[in-house]
Amino acid sequence: MIDHRHHFDDQAAEWDNDPKKIERARRTAQLIVDTVQPQGNGRVFEFGAGTGLVSQFLAPYVGQLTLADNSHGMREVIAGKIDAGVLDGAELSDSDLVGGKLPDEKYDLVVASLVLHHVANVPALLTSFASILASGGVACIIELDDAGGKFHAHIDHYDAHDGFKRDEFEQSLRDAGFAEVQFHDVGKIEREDGEYSLFLANAFTS
Ligand SMILES: C[S@@+](CC[C@H](N)C(=O)[O-])C[C@H]1O[C@@H](n2cnc3c(N)ncnc32)[C@H](O)[C@@H]1O
Repeated sequence: MIDHRHHFDDQAAEWDNDPKKIERARRTAQLIVDTVQPQGNGRVFEFGAGTGLVSQFLAPYVGQLTLADNSHGMREVIAGKIDAGVLDGAELSDSDLVGGKLPDEKYDLVVASLVLHHVANVPALLTSFASILASGGVACIIELDDAGGKFHAHIDHYDAHDGFKRDEFEQSLRDAGFAEVQFHDVGKIEREDGEYSLFLANAFTS
């Protein structure tokens, strides 16, 4: 699969200048808060955090935030926000859940917003999510509904996922060990070539 790191390195500095991305992150975080009702001291691991927007909006409702991203540019933006107090007290993790380098700590929430479609082996990643969650923890995954190849059609040789079918995604979560899965509509990404719906899958450990 193509390594998308350079694509995100190039976008990192400008990412937060797009009001649509900020509004989507705000809406996403609010839906997680409304549906999962995290404890104020809940430990959060955000995988593929980008510039950390979702974590920023979750921060008032949770405890320790740990962010991970494999793009150097995105990591620089996150580090800058931690230094500036925008992500006050957050940690930047060098774990690699795709490569099998898992953190030692356990978390109450794992959040992954629009990153799974960039990952080749999604079932293995979901197993990593389950293994870093504490008992009673929840994985909150925001993804594209199956777009039939249209969403990434503008990217040459794109070979990752173009969204997911909800029923198949639920089965992958159950195969990874999650006991219950609840889907919620998150809204749509609007582009000149059409609208693309998003879902939030809350996957509960037993
Ligand atoms: C579409 S962006 C979403 C960023 C952020 N979650 C948001 O919703 O604004 C996808 C992010 O996932 C990151 N990413 C892709 N593959 C990754 C991997 N294997 N490990 C960690 N991060 C990854 C990218 O660097 C990028 O920052």
